[in-house]
Amino acid sequence: MLLRTRTAADIADAEITPQATYRAFQAQRRRLADPALPSRRQALAGLGATAALAAMPAAAHALTRLTAVHTDYTVPDREVTPEAKAQSYNNFYEFGEDKGDPAQNAHTLRTRPWSVKLEGLVKKPQTVNIDDLLAYRPLQQRIYRFRCVEAWSMVIPWDGYPLSELIKFADPLPSAKFVQFLSLADSKTEMLPGGIDWPYSEGLRMDEALHPLTLLTFGSYGETLANQQGAPVRVIVPWKYGFKSAKSIVRIKFLDKQPSTTWNDLAPGEYGFYSNVNPAVDHPRWSQAHERLLNTNSVFPKIVPTLPFNGYADQVAGLYTGMDLRKFY
Ligand code: MTE
Repeated sequence: MLLRTRTAADIADAEITPQATYRAFQAQRRRLADPALPSRRQALAGLGATAALAAMPAAAHALTRLTAVHTDYTVPDREVTPEAKAQSYNNFYEFGEDKGDPAQNAHTLRTRPWSVKLEGLVKKPQTVNIDDLLAYRPLQQRIYRFRCVEAWSMVIPWDGYPLSELIKFADPLPSAKFVQFLSLADSKTEMLPGGIDWPYSEGLRMDEALHPLTLLTFGSYGETLANQQGAPVRVIVPWKYGFKSAKSIVRIKFLDKQPSTTWNDLAPGEYGFYSNVNPAVDHPRWSQAHERLLNTNSVFPKIVPTLPFNGYADQVAGLYTGMDLRKFY
């Protein structure tokens, strides 16, 4: 079933993306679809904008092994994506927009010292050191399906603990209804290409953030996250499109209103705030009914049907009872 395309008359002034931003955004998405087109990184490098970063030596990033308890969160009918694939085919626009750019460029990210600010509508706003955060609760290994809005998917073992644990620690006020995640935006260590209003921002409704599936994630494959995967800490929300899973988080903000979020700001008609995986609601420019399953090294990935809520409907569909998921896409 197709999403009704809104006419220009349906679009409120507040929703109109500035033309320059939209053009940059469209160019970016076109390049994603056509690897033969030059990347934004190359374009920026041509302008000298990335010279400082390019001058930094590429260091092989040593990942540290993590101790995590195995859980029943598995994907029995699908093979796990090879680790090298999950760490070389990434979306992390702070480091360029081509899939290989983050693995190439994210060595400049410095993940220590690092801290995460808990702020907004909480009883005691505070800043937590990453190593304290990592040690706060035992890590669990959970194998989740991961579905990108671009219609590819992976199967990844993540290491983390429920975000709800940190939320309980932060002790939000009753007026806090949403949680916003803000990623690092540091032009000394990141490329931060134009066209996006940095920092990368994502958000969840409080009940989504508290849901037991929502994972505060420090590692994958039993090791600390590779920089390009969003080290040292990100969230994973497995029933939503991957862009909801913000990387390299430095601030978690508790709000009474829905926060503005990066992709929703850039193209509200294409990327909704909710962005629950939904094969019945197509992206305006492509179908969401199927996905390319990137869980082998084959250049011919299997095309498989996309599952409602990415296969987690039994656990999460109840969060949206009474909501029209075509409207709240
Ligand atoms: N977080 C930040 N800070 N910057 C980003 O560009 N990209 C999002 C999400 N989180 C992104 C981000 C998108 S579009 C996807 S699909 C996933 O990260 C990709 O995660 P992966 O590279 O580990 O597969």
